[in-house]
Amino acid sequence: MSNVFNFTFVPWFRSVAPYIHMHRGKTFVVGVVGEAIAAGKLANLATDLALVQSLGVKIVLVHGFRPQVNEQLATKGHQGRFVGGVRVTDSVALDSAQEAAGQLRFEIEAAFSQGLPNTPMAGSTVRVISGNFITARPLGIIDGVDFQHTGMVRKVDVAGITRSLDAGAMVLISPFGFSPTGEAFNLGMEEVATSVATALQADKLIFLTEKPGIRVQPLAPEGEDNPIDTEIPLAEARALMASLPPPAQPLDVGYYLRHCITACERGVERSHIIPFAVDGALLLEVYVHDGIGTMVVDEKLESLREATADDVTGILQLIEPFEKDGTLVKRSRTEIERDIGNYTIVEHDGVIFACAALYPCPEAKTAEMAALTVSPQSQGQGDGEKVLKRVEARARAMGLQSIFVLTTRTMHWFIKRGFQQVDPEWLPEARKRKYNWDRKSQVLVKHL
Ligand SMILES: CC(C)(COP(=O)(O)OP(=O)(O)OC[C@H]1O[C@@H](n2cnc3c(N)ncnc32)[C@H](O)[C@@H]1OP(=O)(O)O)[C@@H](O)C(=O)NCCC(=O)NCCS
Repeated sequence: MSNVFNFTFVPWFRSVAPYIHMHRGKTFVVGVVGEAIAAGKLANLATDLALVQSLGVKIVLVHGFRPQVNEQLATKGHQGRFVGGVRVTDSVALDSAQEAAGQLRFEIEAAFSQGLPNTPMAGSTVRVISGNFITARPLGIIDGVDFQHTGMVRKVDVAGITRSLDAGAMVLISPFGFSPTGEAFNLGMEEVATSVATALQADKLIFLTEKPGIRVQPLAPEGEDNPIDTEIPLAEARALMASLPPPAQPLDVGYYLRHCITACERGVERSHIIPFAVDGALLLEVYVHDGIGTMVVDEKLESLREATADDVTGILQLIEPFEKDGTLVKRSRTEIERDIGNYTIVEHDGVIFACAALYPCPEAKTAEMAALTVSPQSQGQGDGEKVLKRVEARARAMGLQSIFVLTTRTMHWFIKRGFQQVDPEWLPEARKRKYNWDRKSQVLVKHL
């Protein structure tokens, strides 16, 4: 084996490990547009889904079938009819939808059954369970248009899906629902995926679509100066949605975005729009830091806040291992209690995952950021950066012009975030007197 391979493989594998760890035991609902299957992407997609599942993720796969239904309709000499992006399902369209769904289910189940020796997931047959998990009701007549057999989700069989997932199966859902009287309704894949994700309180909802994601300038053409926006906070996504014309077809900016927003509002913290055209898009989105598409994220504001006296123990527990290995300078409980108002923390469900303290030197119009720490199990998810931004905002609000840090091991992290190295002589007088010349910390400054 060549040394070059070792040098690339080992760091690469280590960089993926935290994500594998983070996603184990989580539930992802993946909505795949029918176009992806029509474009011949099923084999690779099945391999990627099987791989993600083998890494401990529970997967519900919802497939779309727009082009397949249109094809069936065409063979019957009919054309699909859409109003506001929603299919009007007459009896011919319903027959076509049932035929297309049957065929697709068959193809998808077959794709997961190939434990072929020469595929990346050799020997890993995935058990796929599909069933009548969705109860539907008719969409009805809207603005004078009778949508006939087009329906809406009324209820999701959470217990049934959960049992199948817990038994180690992947759950496959077609965009069909049944009324309690046995009537079938054609549903939208996006609505089904969103409803299932919210009913299960899934960790992620991922749409694999014909769109690469949402661009930084959403309505401007693609280009190097208009890349994909990899992360949109929920509030921003809502504002963007409000500024857009109502989406009527899948290529419209808001088409998938509105479902991502709904999912986020109903408790699915992260929703993604990723392109099926890129081979391995799912792996790139889930196991790589920046991902490839757009993620709408519900940043729980309460999770990033200034610390109070109740947080002292949590902060001590968080920083202690880093004090022990010499990354951070030792701080006593009394010291943290005294300075607690200087700390900013990230808290989730009562556990503190990250912290940093800000010590102003108003005479020099600067402040020291100290004890920046993110707990090992949540490093690499942007919490460090979130805390840094909040601390910068605090410093700005105090009228300061810069912040500085002293570090022995984390210089590159700060440089990547706009800090520049300076000589320790730069430090404000009072801080210079306390500078530990033996520790040889590097001093880095960021102008605000
Ligand atoms: C440094 C630290 C706060 C970053 O927090 P985080 O939440 O993991 O940071 P983010 O998610 O915002 O950024 C992660 C990125 O920083 C990189 N990174 C982490 N530690 C680093 C270090 N010591 N040097 C350079 N880069 C580092 C990661 O590799 C990752 O890179 P990527 O963006 O290319 O994938 C965290 O690693 C930590 O607590 N370290 C131990 C304590 C420490 O060193 N604190 C600084 C004291 S001055």
